[in-house]
Amino acid sequence: MSVDLFQELAHVSATRKLVLYPVQRNKIREVYSKKLVTAEEAVKVIKSGDNIALPLGCGEPRALVTAMAKRHNELKGVKVHQMLPLKEADYLSPEMAKSFRHVSWFTSGVNRRAVNEGWADFMPGHFHDYPRLFQEYITVDVFMGMVSPMDERGFFSFGLSVDYTTTAAAEARVVILEVNPNMPRTRGESLIHISDVDYVIENNAPIPEIPIPPLTEEDKIIGGYIAEMIEDSSTIQLGIGGMPNAVAQALVNKKDLGIHTEMITDGMVDLVESGAVTGRKKTIHPGKIIGSFAAGTRRLYNFLNDNPMVEMYPVSYVNDPYVIGKNYKMVSINATLEIDLLGQCASETIGPKQYSATGGQADFAQGCLRSPGGKGFIALHATAKNGTISKIVPFLQQGAVASCSKNDVDHVVTEFGVAKLRGKTARERALELISIAHPDFRADLRAAARKMNLI
Ligand code: COA
Repeated sequence: MSVDLFQELAHVSATRKLVLYPVQRNKIREVYSKKLVTAEEAVKVIKSGDNIALPLGCGEPRALVTAMAKRHNELKGVKVHQMLPLKEADYLSPEMAKSFRHVSWFTSGVNRRAVNEGWADFMPGHFHDYPRLFQEYITVDVFMGMVSPMDERGFFSFGLSVDYTTTAAAEARVVILEVNPNMPRTRGESLIHISDVDYVIENNAPIPEIPIPPLTEEDKIIGGYIAEMIEDSSTIQLGIGGMPNAVAQALVNKKDLGIHTEMITDGMVDLVESGAVTGRKKTIHPGKIIGSFAAGTRRLYNFLNDNPMVEMYPVSYVNDPYVIGKNYKMVSINATLEIDLLGQCASETIGPKQYSATGGQADFAQGCLRSPGGKGFIALHATAKNGTISKIVPFLQQGAVASCSKNDVDHVVTEFGVAKLRGKTARERALELISIAHPDFRADLRAAARKMNLI
């Protein structure tokens, strides 16, 4: 085995328990029944001061989270770690903050207020590093996650949320699973065995769905610019937000695209069904869609269910810039909220307010720079708030953070064109970015750039 391949496999397997399970197949159901309890019984294991890890998005175990909140009078200082919650949760309220301190690893509409008002915490980091944080920096006392039903060999699949979930479960002192027949069974490194589980509860609530955002005229123009620059046989990653979805729609006539992405979306199903994605020319995992989590509509979840074309791996593997860069012609498309004239992207804050998180934006930007023939795209509307604010600015707003370094940004695209930043001087970058700003703001940007001696 080559050293490279050995290192990669070691990297994946470090996030799960590498053992064969001795439980006899005919005894598996018996073991399951012994571990089956109600949600209320299962959450009794939580103690004051514990660290709880919950999966992101669609993997959240709703019944367990609701049962945990009911214990708020008995518990103090429980820390609940989670990225991107999709639904309001009873425990996430200022009244319960003494019992449960939420730690957001990516804020959404559900926990943004909590973080910005200071009754929840925020965990900075690169997405690819999250599993390692659970291995080396945060002791996971209790892991609670949602899985698809157990198979005859005793394996459950984490389905739509593999990312840091498999690692957090492998590290936890206690593992509680919420088994839901609506959770798709995904392939790859997405499994957990009943032997590694302490309690099981059952719930058949629908899995949350995220509607596809309607495309604006600007989205379509930007999608068109980016599609023009994506060559056949490229491998793509599409990020979160409306814009990446517009790009997917503009790619339906391409040939032999591949997918290596942290998030699998509905737009990618369109690309498979249109024949644009075959994965035939991929340099790693040929013929496979590689992802780490998924969020979208039931159509996407049905597509993923037991689909041998799709493999889900821990995000420490999928988002490792070294692994991303092994894809030939790797293309990443992500969005930002504000960009300065050097190319620093404030993608997760609006001024001092936390809006989302870095997620995998920098992981993929750096990975694309390593890829032979790779291209990175940051896409944004030129303005926000009905055209009153330019998103291209001389300086990031006070308190904003640069999620993506200027050194990692390659192309920037607005509805007014494409700015190519990589390999350009600070002066050239400023001129490129001013040329794709909204025309109403270009004179002010030029004046500011002159004052800064940038141009
Ligand atoms: N100043 C003030 N407000 C701004 C703004 C600016 N410069 N830019 C955007 N906004 C506002 C918008 O008006 C909108 O407000 P509304 O919800 O009240 O309408 C809101 O911020 C969101 O802006 P939008 O452009 O619609 O963002 P989006 O939903 O498309 O998401 C990101 C874009 C940047 C938040 C998202 O891509 C992100 O979190 N990125 C970092 C993580 C990442 O890229 N991961 C990679 C792979 S998943």
